[in-house]
Amino acid sequence: MSNYHIKHLEEYYQVYRKSIQEPENFWEEIAEEHFVWRKKWDKVLDWDFNKPEVKWFQGAKLNITENCIDRHLATRGDKTAILFEPNDLNEVAEHITYNQLHKRVNQFANVLKEQGVKKGDRVCIYVPMIPELAISVLACARIGAIHSVVFAGFSATALATRINDSDCKMVITADGSYRGSKTIDLKGIVDEALEQCTCVETVLVAKRIQSNINMKEGRDKWLQPLLDKASAACEAEIMDAEDPLFILYTSGSTGMPKGMVHTTAGYMVYSAYTFKNAFQYKENDVYWCTADIGWITGHSYIVYGPLANGATTVMFEGVPSYPDYGRFWNIVEKHKVNQFYTAPTAIRALAKQGVELVDKYDLSSLKVLGSVGEPINEEAWHWYNDVVGKKKSPIIDSWWQTETGGIMITPIPYVTPTKPTYATLPFIGIQPAIMDENGNELEGNQVEGRLCIKFPWPSIARTIWGNHQRYKDTYFSAFENMYFTGDGSLRDEVGYYRITGRVDDVIIVSGHNLGTAPIEDAINEHQAVAESAIVGFPHDIKGSALYGYITLKDSGEDRNHDNLRKEINQLISDKIGPIAKLNKIQFTEGLPKTRSGKIMRRILRKIASNDTSNLGDTSTLLNPEVVNDIIKESL
Ligand code: PRX
Repeated sequence: MSNYHIKHLEEYYQVYRKSIQEPENFWEEIAEEHFVWRKKWDKVLDWDFNKPEVKWFQGAKLNITENCIDRHLATRGDKTAILFEPNDLNEVAEHITYNQLHKRVNQFANVLKEQGVKKGDRVCIYVPMIPELAISVLACARIGAIHSVVFAGFSATALATRINDSDCKMVITADGSYRGSKTIDLKGIVDEALEQCTCVETVLVAKRIQSNINMKEGRDKWLQPLLDKASAACEAEIMDAEDPLFILYTSGSTGMPKGMVHTTAGYMVYSAYTFKNAFQYKENDVYWCTADIGWITGHSYIVYGPLANGATTVMFEGVPSYPDYGRFWNIVEKHKVNQFYTAPTAIRALAKQGVELVDKYDLSSLKVLGSVGEPINEEAWHWYNDVVGKKKSPIIDSWWQTETGGIMITPIPYVTPTKPTYATLPFIGIQPAIMDENGNELEGNQVEGRLCIKFPWPSIARTIWGNHQRYKDTYFSAFENMYFTGDGSLRDEVGYYRITGRVDDVIIVSGHNLGTAPIEDAINEHQAVAESAIVGFPHDIKGSALYGYITLKDSGEDRNHDNLRKEINQLISDKIGPIAKLNKIQFTEGLPKTRSGKIMRRILRKIASNDTSNLGDTSTLLNPEVVNDIIKESL
């Protein structure tokens, strides 16, 4: 019996049990029956969380693009693979069939080769949500180059940091991008970033907004003329199962962003298998994930997972508010979208606009509604369920991470009964554990603690690029023989999981992970700033927003605080990107510190959330008197 498509709850439990009791047999069967291999594996799994090292399907040879494209040509050549919906409502949507995708990926792959890119080279992709983004990702995979997509909303400094960290020899970008009514000078940002990078030899530029940009002689090349000349045939590079497929950066609670490395075979198997089941995708469905390909959600559930299943995947260039807040629903009606996957922050923003903008459109095609990126609050859940899904489309609240590569805890629609704000049950093959602070696993139901995973799954990130020690310290050192997620979770009386949020210094703002340390570093570069501490506080649209407590070098009385706030936010925007700007900035005389000099963020978090009735034990503070001053002046 094939366990590839799970259709009812009993089957889920049965397959789940098998995946836990005989993981190797289970994954071997899935891999064998549903993918094409140039050579089968010698060993299904090798792992040691202490080293840490995880290897799936060792010895196997494959190319992921043959699984995502070539194998569909015989039966689905004329089926739409990518359905591109432009920013401008009046620009015609583009249907790229599997045949056309094959041709375009091959041409692009040949351009990469001609420009000297080889297997194992890193290519930075800083491209807006236009077809060239998905195509360049696949073109890299075709020739075995490791893609590192950087979200095209990041600043020049953030881009430069990522290019340098993985030593990229090429950057792919566009002359600019559309975002609602705005245009963004992407190439200008790349030029600024490259002033800080010596590794980049070539910049390929896609034309999107027809802007007048600078092209640096010898380095910058327009993409289209190169594509026009390129052959449409490109043999896929044969990759080892464990060859890196991509690097994707995610914020850490401290220091540099972490370049998570995903490898080829395990990632392919898991992203495809989760896609099929978590969305219950059927042959003629139109699937739409609103994320950007610059995030893991876009990698796994716009590009690789859907294409590996021969699906039609929508790529939307614009924003939910343009030309008005009905745009998402307009697209659902227009393309008869069956599965819709978005983030709670978008749901909350749309819910604020009232039901008229939803009811204007025919949403009867919808069968599955997905949520990802942060906890979904009860109100947003009900609005999504009632107003968008008309109580007919199950909501899958899917919990996972850049590091996990694929969905880890989620209801399977039409299989798992849903419960508002609960991610419900572990996906097939996933063995969660809830741990207390002393490292003991909390067995049974009705427990709450830190969420770990006990056993490797095929798409776990294998390392942090260039820093295996940090990989070990971050994920495998907090609890023995466990992958630590950094999240808190509870397990209810029936064994459903509810994610309670981060337990480290990562704050999720509008679904984007932001480490506090890099933001504080940016603020501290302002010449007037002595010290700063960032915490999150509840925000009705963003989920969490950022509150900055800042002490100034002189008392700052002679400075205009409003101007300072603007300058500080500008600095953050320049160093990291506009998503990391602070909602509130409070200038204080001091920050509460422990005797060892650590800032007591717990107290600042409570003050920022207006919850000062019980601040807990402040007796260990070096300077307890500052706490009252901070409360008095809080915003
Ligand atoms: O805290 C969890 C939260 O997002 C973090 C992972 O962020 P990132 O690597 O950017 O990946 C986001 C998309 C997969 C997690 O550690 N998170 C993600 N999904 C959920 C969630 N929190 C609660 N519920 C979710 N469904």
